[in-house]
Amino acid sequence: MTLAFTLNDGARIPWLGFGTGTALFNKDSTEAVKTAIQAGITHLDGAQLYRNEESLGQGIKDSGVPREKLFVTTKLAETPSAPTIKATLEVSLKKLGLDYVDLFLIHSPVVAMKEGKLKNWWKEMEDIKQEGLAKSIGVSNFTIEHLQIILEDATVVPAVNQLHPYVWGATSKLYDFCKEKNIVIESYGGLSSIVRASGGPVDLVLASAAERLSKESGTTVSLGQILSKWLIQKGAAVVTTSSELSRIQETLSTASLPDLSVDEISAIETEGSKVHKRFFMKHVFNE
Ligand SMILES: NC(=O)c1ccc[n+]([C@@H]2O[C@H](COP(=O)([O-])OP(=O)(O)OC[C@H]3O[C@@H](n4cnc5c(N)ncnc54)[C@H](OP(=O)(O)O)[C@@H]3O)[C@@H](O)[C@H]2O)c1
Repeated sequence: MTLAFTLNDGARIPWLGFGTGTALFNKDSTEAVKTAIQAGITHLDGAQLYRNEESLGQGIKDSGVPREKLFVTTKLAETPSAPTIKATLEVSLKKLGLDYVDLFLIHSPVVAMKEGKLKNWWKEMEDIKQEGLAKSIGVSNFTIEHLQIILEDATVVPAVNQLHPYVWGATSKLYDFCKEKNIVIESYGGLSSIVRASGGPVDLVLASAAERLSKESGTTVSLGQILSKWLIQKGAAVVTTSSELSRIQETLSTASLPDLSVDEISAIETEGSKVHKRFFMKHVFNE
Protein backbone atom coordinates (compact mmCIF):
# COMPACT_ATOMS: atom_id res chain seq x y z
CA MET A 1 0.00 0.00 0.00
CA THR A 2 1.25 3.53 -0.79
CA LEU A 3 2.60 5.42 2.17
CA ALA A 4 0.26 8.28 3.09
CA PHE A 5 -0.16 10.83 5.85
CA THR A 6 -3.45 11.47 7.63
CA LEU A 7 -4.69 15.06 7.50
CA ASN A 8 -6.48 16.44 10.53
CA ASP A 9 -9.86 16.03 8.83
CA GLY A 10 -9.18 12.29 8.44
CA ALA A 11 -8.34 12.37 4.72
CA ARG A 12 -5.17 10.60 3.56
CA ILE A 13 -2.57 12.35 1.41
CA PRO A 14 -0.17 10.10 -0.54
CA TRP A 15 3.40 10.90 0.53
CA LEU A 16 4.67 11.72 -2.97
CA GLY A 17 3.09 14.40 -5.13
CA PHE A 18 4.02 15.20 -8.72
CA GLY A 19 4.29 18.97 -9.22
CA THR A 20 3.14 20.84 -12.30
CA GLY A 21 4.76 24.17 -11.33
CA THR A 22 8.41 25.30 -11.67
CA ALA A 23 9.76 23.19 -14.56
CA LEU A 24 6.23 22.84 -16.02
CA PHE A 25 5.03 26.36 -15.20
CA ASN A 26 2.90 27.74 -18.07
CA LYS A 27 3.68 24.59 -20.08
CA ASP A 28 1.56 21.71 -21.26
CA SER A 29 1.94 19.07 -18.53
CA THR A 30 -0.23 16.39 -20.18
CA GLU A 31 2.53 13.91 -21.05
CA ALA A 32 4.49 14.47 -17.82
CA VAL A 33 1.37 13.92 -15.70
CA LYS A 34 0.33 10.84 -17.66
CA THR A 35 3.84 9.36 -17.33
CA ALA A 36 3.95 10.10 -13.60
CA ILE A 37 0.56 8.47 -12.96
CA GLN A 38 1.38 5.44 -15.07
CA ALA A 39 4.63 5.09 -13.09
CA GLY A 40 2.54 4.82 -9.91
CA ILE A 41 2.18 8.38 -8.63
CA THR A 42 -1.33 9.05 -7.30
CA HIS A 43 -0.93 12.59 -5.97
CA LEU A 44 -0.82 15.52 -8.40
CA ASP A 45 0.00 19.08 -7.35
CA GLY A 46 -1.43 21.87 -9.51
CA ALA A 47 -2.24 25.54 -9.06
CA GLN A 48 -4.19 28.31 -10.74
CA LEU A 49 -0.90 30.22 -10.93
CA TYR A 50 0.81 27.47 -12.95
CA ARG A 51 -1.48 28.27 -15.91
CA ASN A 52 -1.71 24.65 -16.99
CA GLU A 53 -4.66 23.14 -15.13
CA GLU A 54 -6.26 22.02 -18.43
CA SER A 55 -3.24 19.89 -19.23
CA LEU A 56 -3.12 18.47 -15.69
CA GLY A 57 -6.74 17.38 -16.24
CA GLN A 58 -5.89 15.98 -19.66
CA GLY A 59 -2.94 14.01 -18.25
CA ILE A 60 -5.24 12.53 -15.61
CA LYS A 61 -7.73 11.47 -18.29
CA ASP A 62 -5.05 10.08 -20.58
CA SER A 63 -3.51 8.02 -17.76
CA GLY A 64 -6.57 5.77 -17.72
CA VAL A 65 -6.44 5.63 -13.91
CA PRO A 66 -9.86 6.20 -12.31
CA ARG A 67 -10.21 9.65 -10.79
CA GLU A 68 -11.16 8.28 -7.36
CA LYS A 69 -7.78 6.55 -7.11
CA LEU A 70 -6.01 9.91 -7.43
CA PHE A 71 -5.39 12.79 -5.04
CA VAL A 72 -5.52 16.11 -6.88
CA THR A 73 -4.52 19.48 -5.42
CA THR A 74 -5.01 22.94 -6.83
CA LYS A 75 -4.27 26.30 -5.24
CA LEU A 76 -5.98 29.67 -5.15
CA ALA A 77 -3.98 32.25 -7.09
CA GLU A 78 -2.32 34.92 -4.98
CA THR A 79 -4.75 37.44 -6.49
CA PRO A 80 -8.09 35.67 -7.02
CA SER A 81 -9.35 35.86 -10.58
CA ALA A 82 -13.05 36.13 -9.64
CA PRO A 83 -15.07 37.95 -6.96
CA THR A 84 -15.42 34.81 -4.84
CA ILE A 85 -12.97 32.04 -4.09
CA LYS A 86 -15.65 29.49 -4.94
CA ALA A 87 -16.00 31.03 -8.42
CA THR A 88 -12.25 30.68 -9.01
CA LEU A 89 -12.38 27.04 -7.92
CA GLU A 90 -15.30 26.39 -10.27
CA VAL A 91 -13.16 27.70 -13.13
CA SER A 92 -10.30 25.42 -12.02
CA LEU A 93 -12.60 22.39 -11.82
CA LYS A 94 -13.86 23.09 -15.31
CA LYS A 95 -10.28 23.30 -16.62
CA LEU A 96 -9.32 20.13 -14.74
CA GLY A 97 -12.45 18.31 -15.92
CA LEU A 98 -13.17 17.27 -12.33
CA ASP A 99 -16.15 17.59 -9.97
CA TYR A 100 -13.96 18.14 -6.91
CA VAL A 101 -10.33 18.45 -5.86
CA ASP A 102 -8.92 16.47 -2.98
CA LEU A 103 -7.09 19.48 -1.63
CA PHE A 104 -7.51 23.20 -2.21
CA LEU A 105 -4.81 25.47 -0.82
CA ILE A 106 -4.45 29.22 -0.42
CA HIS A 107 -1.20 29.59 -2.37
CA SER A 108 0.03 32.67 -0.50
CA PRO A 109 -1.23 34.95 2.27
CA VAL A 110 0.21 38.18 0.83
CA VAL A 111 -2.81 39.74 -0.93
CA ALA A 112 -5.30 38.64 1.72
CA MET A 113 -3.10 40.14 4.44
CA LYS A 114 -2.69 43.41 2.55
CA GLU A 115 -6.46 43.68 2.20
CA GLY A 116 -7.16 42.49 5.76
CA LYS A 117 -9.18 39.57 4.43
CA LEU A 118 -7.37 36.48 5.61
CA LYS A 119 -10.14 35.37 7.96
CA ASN A 120 -12.80 36.01 5.27
CA TRP A 121 -10.81 33.96 2.77
CA TRP A 122 -10.56 31.10 5.23
CA LYS A 123 -14.33 31.24 5.87
CA GLU A 124 -14.88 30.94 2.10
CA MET A 125 -12.48 27.97 2.04
CA GLU A 126 -14.47 26.30 4.83
CA ASP A 127 -17.72 26.78 2.87
CA ILE A 128 -16.06 25.19 -0.18
CA LYS A 129 -15.11 22.14 1.89
CA GLN A 130 -18.61 22.01 3.33
CA GLU A 131 -20.05 21.94 -0.20
CA GLY A 132 -17.69 19.15 -1.22
CA LEU A 133 -15.92 21.05 -4.01
CA ALA A 134 -12.69 20.35 -2.11
CA LYS A 135 -12.40 17.34 0.18
CA SER A 136 -9.71 19.05 2.26
CA ILE A 137 -8.48 22.62 2.54
CA GLY A 138 -5.20 24.15 3.57
CA VAL A 139 -2.65 26.86 3.12
CA SER A 140 0.74 27.34 1.55
CA ASN A 141 3.63 29.64 2.43
CA PHE A 142 2.02 30.71 5.71
CA THR A 143 4.06 31.84 8.70
CA ILE A 144 3.07 31.16 12.32
CA GLU A 145 1.49 34.65 12.43
CA HIS A 146 -0.70 33.93 9.39
CA LEU A 147 -1.76 30.57 10.81
CA GLN A 148 -2.62 32.13 14.15
CA ILE A 149 -4.93 34.62 12.46
CA ILE A 150 -7.06 31.95 10.80
CA LEU A 151 -6.88 29.57 13.75
CA GLU A 152 -8.52 32.20 15.98
CA ASP A 153 -11.96 31.33 14.69
CA ALA A 154 -11.49 28.57 12.14
CA THR A 155 -14.01 25.77 12.36
CA VAL A 156 -11.87 23.64 10.05
CA VAL A 157 -8.18 23.63 10.91
CA PRO A 158 -5.95 24.00 7.85
CA ALA A 159 -4.77 20.63 6.69
CA VAL A 160 -1.49 21.35 4.95
CA ASN A 161 1.18 24.02 4.99
CA GLN A 162 3.70 23.73 2.22
CA LEU A 163 7.26 24.35 3.21
CA HIS A 164 10.71 24.51 1.75
CA PRO A 165 12.90 22.17 3.81
CA TYR A 166 16.28 23.65 2.88
CA VAL A 167 15.31 26.63 5.01
CA TRP A 168 15.26 24.36 8.04
CA GLY A 169 17.01 26.86 10.35
CA ALA A 170 14.36 29.47 9.57
CA THR A 171 11.42 27.07 9.58
CA SER A 172 11.93 24.69 12.48
CA LYS A 173 9.74 26.85 14.76
CA LEU A 174 6.96 26.83 12.16
CA TYR A 175 7.45 23.07 11.79
CA ASP A 176 7.00 22.62 15.57
CA PHE A 177 3.92 24.88 15.53
CA CYS A 178 2.32 22.82 12.75
CA LYS A 179 3.09 19.55 14.56
CA GLU A 180 1.48 20.94 17.71
CA LYS A 181 -1.65 21.98 15.75
CA ASN A 182 -1.73 18.69 13.86
CA ILE A 183 -1.15 20.41 10.51
CA VAL A 184 0.56 18.08 8.04
CA ILE A 185 3.55 19.63 6.31
CA GLU A 186 3.90 19.31 2.58
CA SER A 187 7.33 20.23 1.24
CA TYR A 188 8.26 21.66 -2.12
CA GLY A 189 11.70 22.46 -3.43
CA GLY A 190 12.93 19.55 -1.34
CA LEU A 191 15.79 18.78 -3.72
CA SER A 192 17.08 22.36 -3.60
CA SER A 193 20.30 21.52 -1.80
CA ILE A 194 21.38 19.26 -4.68
CA VAL A 195 19.70 20.88 -7.71
CA ARG A 196 19.97 24.59 -6.82
CA ALA A 197 22.70 24.86 -4.22
CA SER A 198 25.07 21.95 -4.56
CA GLY A 199 28.48 22.32 -2.92
CA GLY A 200 26.89 23.33 0.40
CA PRO A 201 27.48 21.89 3.87
CA VAL A 202 24.75 19.26 3.62
CA ASP A 203 26.41 17.44 0.69
CA LEU A 204 28.80 15.35 2.78
CA VAL A 205 26.10 14.17 5.16
CA LEU A 206 23.85 13.19 2.24
CA ALA A 207 26.71 11.31 0.56
CA SER A 208 27.60 9.36 3.66
CA ALA A 209 23.95 8.47 4.37
CA ALA A 210 23.53 7.39 0.72
CA GLU A 211 26.59 5.15 1.01
CA ARG A 212 25.33 3.52 4.22
CA LEU A 213 21.78 2.98 2.88
CA SER A 214 23.15 1.62 -0.42
CA LYS A 215 25.12 -1.02 1.49
CA GLU A 216 22.21 -1.85 3.77
CA SER A 217 19.59 -2.06 0.99
CA GLY A 218 21.79 -3.61 -1.71
CA THR A 219 20.62 -0.96 -4.22
CA THR A 220 22.18 2.34 -5.24
CA VAL A 221 20.61 5.06 -3.12
CA SER A 222 20.84 8.61 -4.51
CA LEU A 223 21.27 11.93 -2.72
CA GLY A 224 17.75 12.88 -3.85
CA GLN A 225 16.37 9.79 -2.13
CA ILE A 226 18.14 10.74 1.10
CA LEU A 227 16.46 14.16 1.00
CA SER A 228 13.05 12.59 0.36
CA LYS A 229 13.66 10.04 3.10
CA TRP A 230 14.51 12.83 5.54
CA LEU A 231 11.21 14.55 4.67
CA ILE A 232 9.21 11.34 5.07
CA GLN A 233 10.76 10.74 8.49
CA LYS A 234 9.88 14.33 9.45
CA GLY A 235 6.27 13.39 8.64
CA ALA A 236 6.17 15.61 5.54
CA ALA A 237 4.57 14.81 2.20
CA VAL A 238 6.97 15.49 -0.69
CA VAL A 239 6.01 17.44 -3.80
CA THR A 240 8.65 17.13 -6.48
CA THR A 241 8.83 16.78 -10.23
CA SER A 242 10.96 15.20 -12.91
CA SER A 243 10.97 14.95 -16.67
CA GLU A 244 12.66 11.56 -16.38
CA LEU A 245 10.73 8.35 -15.75
CA SER A 246 13.74 6.73 -14.06
CA ARG A 247 13.86 9.53 -11.49
CA ILE A 248 10.13 9.29 -10.83
CA GLN A 249 10.53 5.55 -10.25
CA GLU A 250 13.57 6.12 -8.06
CA THR A 251 11.70 8.66 -5.92
CA LEU A 252 8.69 6.34 -5.62
CA SER A 253 10.95 3.58 -4.30
CA THR A 254 12.28 5.84 -1.53
CA ALA A 255 9.44 4.96 0.84
CA SER A 256 10.63 1.36 1.10
CA LEU A 257 14.30 2.19 1.86
CA PRO A 258 15.66 1.57 5.36
CA ASP A 259 15.32 4.53 7.72
CA LEU A 260 17.92 7.22 8.29
CA SER A 261 19.40 7.08 11.78
CA VAL A 262 18.67 9.71 14.41
CA ASP A 263 22.26 10.94 13.99
CA GLU A 264 21.92 11.24 10.21
CA ILE A 265 18.68 13.22 10.57
CA SER A 266 20.26 15.50 13.11
CA ALA A 267 23.36 15.99 10.91
CA ILE A 268 21.18 16.97 7.91
CA GLU A 269 19.45 19.59 10.07
CA THR A 270 22.64 20.90 11.72
CA GLU A 271 24.49 21.21 8.42
CA GLY A 272 21.41 22.50 6.58
CA SER A 273 20.95 25.25 9.17
CA LYS A 274 24.42 26.61 8.43
CA VAL A 275 23.13 28.04 5.16
CA HIS A 276 19.95 29.97 4.46
CA LYS A 277 18.72 29.89 0.88
CA ARG A 278 15.11 30.36 -0.03
CA PHE A 279 14.39 29.85 -3.71
CA PHE A 280 10.64 30.45 -4.02
CA MET A 281 8.04 32.89 -2.71
CA LYS A 282 10.69 35.06 -1.04
CA HIS A 283 8.31 38.04 -0.94
CA VAL A 284 6.03 36.24 1.52
CA PHE A 285 8.91 36.03 3.99
CA ASN A 286 10.20 39.55 3.29
CA GLU A 287 13.42 38.17 1.80
N1 LIG B 1 3.36 26.10 -3.03
C1 LIG B 1 4.33 26.75 -3.61
O1 LIG B 1 4.49 27.94 -3.40
C2 LIG B 1 5.28 26.03 -4.53
C3 LIG B 1 6.45 26.66 -4.93
C4 LIG B 1 7.32 25.95 -5.75
C5 LIG B 1 7.00 24.67 -6.17
N2 LIG B 1 5.82 24.09 -5.77
C6 LIG B 1 5.43 22.75 -6.24
O2 LIG B 1 6.47 21.85 -6.03
C7 LIG B 1 6.78 21.17 -7.26
C8 LIG B 1 8.21 20.75 -7.28
O3 LIG B 1 9.01 21.88 -7.10
P1 LIG B 1 10.52 21.89 -7.37
O4 LIG B 1 10.75 21.95 -8.81
O5 LIG B 1 11.06 22.94 -6.51
O6 LIG B 1 11.00 20.46 -6.83
P2 LIG B 1 12.42 19.91 -6.47
O7 LIG B 1 12.07 18.54 -6.02
O8 LIG B 1 13.23 20.76 -5.55
O9 LIG B 1 13.22 19.90 -7.85
C9 LIG B 1 12.75 19.22 -8.95
C10 LIG B 1 13.81 19.30 -10.03
O10 LIG B 1 14.89 18.48 -9.66
C11 LIG B 1 15.24 17.58 -10.72
N3 LIG B 1 15.33 16.25 -10.10
C12 LIG B 1 14.34 15.39 -9.80
N4 LIG B 1 14.80 14.29 -9.19
C13 LIG B 1 16.14 14.46 -9.09
C14 LIG B 1 17.20 13.67 -8.55
N5 LIG B 1 16.97 12.50 -7.98
N6 LIG B 1 18.46 14.18 -8.61
C15 LIG B 1 18.69 15.38 -9.18
N7 LIG B 1 17.74 16.16 -9.71
C16 LIG B 1 16.49 15.70 -9.67
C17 LIG B 1 14.14 17.63 -11.71
O11 LIG B 1 14.73 17.79 -13.00
P3 LIG B 1 14.69 16.59 -14.09
O12 LIG B 1 13.48 16.86 -14.91
O13 LIG B 1 15.96 16.80 -14.83
O14 LIG B 1 14.65 15.29 -13.36
C18 LIG B 1 13.27 18.83 -11.34
O15 LIG B 1 13.33 19.88 -12.26
C19 LIG B 1 6.38 22.17 -8.33
O16 LIG B 1 6.18 21.56 -9.57
C20 LIG B 1 5.12 22.72 -7.73
O17 LIG B 1 4.05 21.83 -7.99
C21 LIG B 1 4.98 24.75 -4.95
